Amino acid sequence: MNGRKVLLIVGGGIAAYKACELVRLIRKAGGSVRCVLTAGGAQFITPMTLAALSEQQVFTNLFDLKDEAEMGHIQLSREADLVVVAPATADLLAKMAAGIADDLATTLLLATDKQVLAAPAMNVRMWQHAATQRNVAQLRNDGVTVLEPDEGEMACGEYGPGRLPEPEAIFAAIQAALGGPGPLSGRHVIVTAGPTHEPIDPVRVIANRSSGKQGFAIAGALAALGARVTLVAGPVNLETPAGVARRDVETAEEMEQAVLAALPADAAVLVAAVADWRVEPAGEKLKKEAGPPVLDWRRTPDILAGLATHDLRPHLIVGFAAETENVAAEAAAKRARKGADWIVANDVSGDVMGGDANAVHLITGTDAESWDRMSKTDVARRLAQRIAHALS
Ligand code: CTP
Repeated sequence: MNGRKVLLIVGGGIAAYKACELVRLIRKAGGSVRCVLTAGGAQFITPMTLAALSEQQVFTNLFDLKDEAEMGHIQLSREADLVVVAPATADLLAKMAAGIADDLATTLLLATDKQVLAAPAMNVRMWQHAATQRNVAQLRNDGVTVLEPDEGEMACGEYGPGRLPEPEAIFAAIQAALGGPGPLSGRHVIVTAGPTHEPIDPVRVIANRSSGKQGFAIAGALAALGARVTLVAGPVNLETPAGVARRDVETAEEMEQAVLAALPADAAVLVAAVADWRVEPAGEKLKKEAGPPVLDWRRTPDILAGLATHDLRPHLIVGFAAETENVAAEAAAKRARKGADWIVANDVSGDVMGGDANAVHLITGTDAESWDRMSKTDVARRLAQRIAHALS
C-alpha cells in the first residue's frame, strides 16, 4: 500500500466487526486508515477499538465542533487516496445514491472527490429488493465501485447473497482501486468501449456491431499495470475487468458527458465505435402504416475531437480507426484531422468486429507500425505497455 491513505466508513451491521480485520490488513501492507463510524456502526463496535487498530482518532459526529475546527469534513474526505464503505448497509447505499448528507459519513461521501468503494452487507431480501438494486445500479453509474456481497448463511438465519465480502476480498478490491503497483501506478486513464445506441423511437435504436471486447481488454490491461481506469461503456454484454471503474451509457451524448465528468486524466483511449449520426427520436412508436420513416439526421458530438481541444486535455489521446482500405494512410490522416496523439488503426475487412483477434497499425506522430494479427488481449497488453512507456 506504500503509504496510501484510506478513509474507512463503517456502517451499522453485525458485520461491522470485520472492519477491524480490514484495518489490520491495510496497515500490515503499509497503508494508513482513518475511520469514521456511523451512529449505527457504533452500536456494533466502539470508536476505541478502531482508534487502537488504526492508531488514529476516529470520527463519529458531524457536529462535533472540536473536530470540525481541527479537521473540516471536506479535508477529511480529500486527504484520502480512496474512500471505502464497509459494511455498506442498505440505508447507507440509498443515501449515497440519493445524495443525502445528514451525518458525517454521508456528508463525507457527498463531499469527496476521490474514488469510492462500497462493500455491501445486509439481509438477503434487503439486497434483492428492487430499491436496493436500483440504488446499486445508480451508484455504479455514478462511478462508485460496489462489490457483490458474498452468498451464504446470514446472521439472521436466512441464506443467500448479502454477507459482507471477507476482509481479504475487500482488501484486494482496495488494492485494485488504488491501482496496484506497476508502471502506471498513480495514473488515471479513461477508456471508451463498445457501440452507442441512438434512439429512433421508444423501441428502436441505431446500433453497430462493436462488441466492446477490445476496449474492455485495454481497460483491464491498463489496470493490470497499476492505472486507475474509468471505463465508459456503451451497451455491451461483458464483465467489468478487475480494478476498473465502469460507467454504462447508451448514446454518444451520454458517452461524451461521462468522459468529460471523468476528467482530469493522464491518458484517454477512445475505442468506442461512436455513432456519427443520431436522429431526433419520435416520442411514440413509429407505425408501419405511416409509410417509410423519414429520419432527420443530426451529427453526434465528436468525443475525441472535443477532448483534444479541452482545457483539461489528457497528456496522451489514443484514438481508434476502423478502416477497410489504405488502412495506415487513412489512419494517419485521421490522426491529424482529429487532434489525437496516436491512432490505432483496425483493419476491419475481416472478422474483427465481435471476433477475438485483431490486426492493427499503431500510428504515432513519428512512426507507423504494423502489428501482426494477434488476440485482442495481446493487442491490449502491448498497447498498455506503450502507454506506460509514453507516460513515464
Ligand atoms: N470518436 C469519438 N466520437 C465520435 C466519433 C468517433 O470519440 N462521435 C472516436 C472513436 O472512439 C475513435 C475515433 O474517434 O477513437 C474514430 O474516428 P472517426 O473519425 O469516427 O473514424 P471512423 O469511425 O473510422 O469514421 P470514418 O472513417 O467513417 O470517418
